[in-house]
Amino acid sequence: MKKLKVLSVFGTRPEAIKMAPLVLELRKHPEIESLVCITAQHREMLDSVMDCFGLTADFDLNIMQQGQTLTDITSRVLYGLGELLNQIRPDLILVHGDTTTAFAAALTGFYARVPVGHVEAGLRTFDRYSPYPEEMNRQLICRIAELHFAPTGNNAKNLNREGIFDGVYITGNTVIDAMKYTVTGTGFTSPELNAIDTSGKRVIAMTCHRRENYGEPMENIFRAVRTIAERFADVQFIYPVHPAPVVRETAGRILGDVPRVSLISPLDAIDMHRLMSMSYMVMTDSGGIQEEAPSLGKPVLVLRQETERPEAVAAGTVKLAGVEEDNIVRLAEELLTDRNAYDEMAQAVNPYGDGMACRRIVDAILYHFGRRPAPPEAFMV
Ligand code: UD1
Ligand code: UDP
Repeated sequence: MKKLKVLSVFGTRPEAIKMAPLVLELRKHPEIESLVCITAQHREMLDSVMDCFGLTADFDLNIMQQGQTLTDITSRVLYGLGELLNQIRPDLILVHGDTTTAFAAALTGFYARVPVGHVEAGLRTFDRYSPYPEEMNRQLICRIAELHFAPTGNNAKNLNREGIFDGVYITGNTVIDAMKYTVTGTGFTSPELNAIDTSGKRVIAMTCHRRENYGEPMENIFRAVRTIAERFADVQFIYPVHPAPVVRETAGRILGDVPRVSLISPLDAIDMHRLMSMSYMVMTDSGGIQEEAPSLGKPVLVLRQETERPEAVAAGTVKLAGVEEDNIVRLAEELLTDRNAYDEMAQAVNPYGDGMACRRIVDAILYHFGRRPAPPEAFMV
């Protein structure tokens, strides 16, 4: 029988981290021809993930521009991928999550009449501008996709609420699969990280990059960090700064010369996961880090107004800290001074699966294309 041609398309750091274990799983199946197209919406940060997982792309659209707009990304993916799909005609395109690469790739797939599978489907805030543009990207992708791989039962229910019942599978989140590769060993490869003296200090790993936080919210967040660093002499912030020009400028201006706040270059995934494992706590507006932290037993303050990941909040490992300086400082102080409050968050159970999500996704794909018996009922909605 002809091999099933599956084209995985991704372009940013978080997509790559969560798609890498799936690509590795797809490769194990002789009935599948697995191809990878990177859009390189992110360039260096994407290449770094590819290196961590030992992956090379079959096709590279190389679209990134400094300070790119959403329109730039969308149109460049549509043109680049449209041409490629006409050449290689895959049986299925896999996209991941909520980025503009994922949305534009799904749309291109639809235009070319190629079925689309959506990995990490069904996350919602139901607020179209938060996260922006990711909430709308996710909603639009699910209109297009034929296969929906929902990390949790709650995500599947969100899809059902929108009238989507067919092709929905509950799989767990592939980030847990990815952490089997990254959370091993000790030590860092980043010279900047190795140069920070953390002896006798409690490390707070932080990240902040989201578009809806640009401007005043981001300034409030950074002022809160400055205040916490000034109040706690035993706290060392380590902040790998996202390369987006707005983020770098704001971080440099407010945190550039604050003692015990180290602004460093983005870390590769292995260093980042190790940094989180040795940290006291995490402060972030990242989506993926909210899913990783429960596995690492680290409390997370989420620097956003709302989250499409309520499972982590319900599990107790994540608290929504908002984007007001006073509230962020108050919640951080509580975790730095109240052992019970800290332990309660650190001991939460991971709601994102057992690290077998990629196996389930591949089983579901093979079933969908008539190459396998039905996957276990438990994973179908
Ligand atoms: C994108 C995603 C966001 C995700 C984030 C993860 C969209 C709309 N946004 O946002 O959902 O949370 O990635 O990090 O898809 N840059 C570099 N080198 C890199 C990567 C980025 O220089 O390797 C700089 C470039 O100037 C680029 C800018 O960062 O123009 C912004 O990148 P972009 O992908 O447009 O937006 P993100 O904020 O990274
Ligand atoms: N991450 C990384 N290096 C860093 C910062 C983050 O490898 O310097 C990882 C992080 O552990 C997580 C992913 O990148 O796996 C999250 O990506 P990001 O925060 O850029 O995007 P989001 O998840 O918010 O879409």
